[in-house]
Amino acid sequence: MALPFLFVLNGVWVMSEIDALKGELEVLQEKALASFLKAADLTALQTLRVAYLGKKGELTSVLKGVGKLAPADRPVIGQFVNATKAALAEALDAAEVLLAVKEKQQRIEAERLDVTLPGRSATRGVLHPVQQGLNEMTAIFAQMGFAIAEGPEIEDEFHNFDALNIPQEHPARAMHDTFFFESSGEQQAKLLRTHTSPVQIRTMQACIASGGKPPLAVVAPGRVYRCDYDVTHSPMFHQVEVFKVDKDVSLAHLKGVLQHFLSAYFEKEVSIRLRPHYFPFTEPSAEVDIGCVFCAGKGCRICKGSGWVEVLGSGMIHPNVLKSVGIDSEIYSGFAFGLGVERLVMLKHGIPDLRLFFENDVRFLRRMGANT
Ligand code: PHE
Repeated sequence: MALPFLFVLNGVWVMSEIDALKGELEVLQEKALASFLKAADLTALQTLRVAYLGKKGELTSVLKGVGKLAPADRPVIGQFVNATKAALAEALDAAEVLLAVKEKQQRIEAERLDVTLPGRSATRGVLHPVQQGLNEMTAIFAQMGFAIAEGPEIEDEFHNFDALNIPQEHPARAMHDTFFFESSGEQQAKLLRTHTSPVQIRTMQACIASGGKPPLAVVAPGRVYRCDYDVTHSPMFHQVEVFKVDKDVSLAHLKGVLQHFLSAYFEKEVSIRLRPHYFPFTEPSAEVDIGCVFCAGKGCRICKGSGWVEVLGSGMIHPNVLKSVGIDSEIYSGFAFGLGVERLVMLKHGIPDLRLFFENDVRFLRRMGANT
């Protein structure tokens, strides 16, 4: 700090007003610069800027003293004030740049990511085993040239029963444990389809209605419903319906397709046998058994010691069914079968209880997901 100019007045050393002001400004500047260096962050620095350079700041209050000076001295001190102001502003700007860099570095440090840490793996979902089974089965038939079709789950009596040669009062209707919707009386009763066979009717009807004619080879996967619930029955389950209509289709074709499909699905050569049975919509009808995949026919708990397990219902499409959709049964014949998807999946993967499919225990679902 420059020594203030002193002079003697009445025997006492007195500091001139102008020197006193200059001194004040120098002290202020030194104090200010020191405080800028200590500012912890940009907000603190902004507070200091206001404290020194603001309207009510320290520099302004020093300026007020200028009024007391002799007019000739004012420009001198004015210059000094401006120089102080400029010095403070410059120091503030420099400190601001430094702090900004420092804050950015701190932020980068705080947000640092260790890219070498192993990622958190998200659990991958798997298709439900029943859906996997449906996909596998449908794909095998698609490879054999069958077209995929679907029908509604809410059906009418015509497609679910009448057209399939199950007239009113036929005992087979009672055997189907049907869920009916409350009917308004006028329309045909609506129901939840009890099997996928109505898709036979719908696809054949659609073919004829659009001016087409057989050959028709169709696979129809889907949900079916029966009012039945115990260890081996669920009120909703899945079927895959397969049928072919053409000239000269015979039981041998049916057996050939079944043999190929079942071996492809179980991924090994399985033996099959057709047992005479009764279905209203097929004649002749047969239930199909496969040689037990667990004991290779020796006899076990699954096949109840017989060496055979029943897997599906089949037969040659009844002439009445072809007639109901306007296909001439003198020219055309066909085979059809319908299989229970859950049952086949259980046999393939050794699943002991049907209810596992519907409990959605993730441990079961995950294990099944790993299987395919
Ligand atoms: N629709 C029969 C059922 O659900 C299965 C079947 C389909 C039988 C086609 C013969 C022919 O039981």
